[in-house]
Amino acid sequence: TTINVVDRDGQRRGVEWEPGQSLMETLRDNDFPILASCGGTASCATCHVFLDKAVVDTLGPRSSDELELLEEQEAYDPETSRLSCQVERCESLDGITVTIAPEED
Ligand code: FES
Repeated sequence: TTINVVDRDGQRRGVEWEPGQSLMETLRDNDFPILASCGGTASCATCHVFLDKAVVDTLGPRSSDELELLEEQEAYDPETSRLSCQVERCESLDGITVTIAPEED
C-alpha cells in the first residue's frame, strides 16, 4: 500500500505502508515529524494528521479517547482530523493523501 504524505513544509512524498504497521508507525519510520510521545495509545496527539473527508468516512467512528484529544487541538478539523496511531492499514487506503498537522504549542 503506497500513500502520499504532505509534510509541514508542503513537500509531498510517496511512502510504502507495510502490513502490521499503524499509520503513525509508517510516518515515524519514514522520518516525518511525528513524535508519537505516547507510543500510540491515543494520549499525546503528536501524531495528528488530516485525511480526505471521504477516507475518514470509510474508517468508521473515532474512539471517545481519540475524539476528546483531537478536540483539544487548535488545528482540529471535525471532517478530516485523525490520530494516525489509531488508523490501521487496509488495502482500500492505497493511494490516499495524508497531511501532517501543524505542530501545537
Ligand atoms: Fe500519541 Fe497517537 S502517538 S496519540
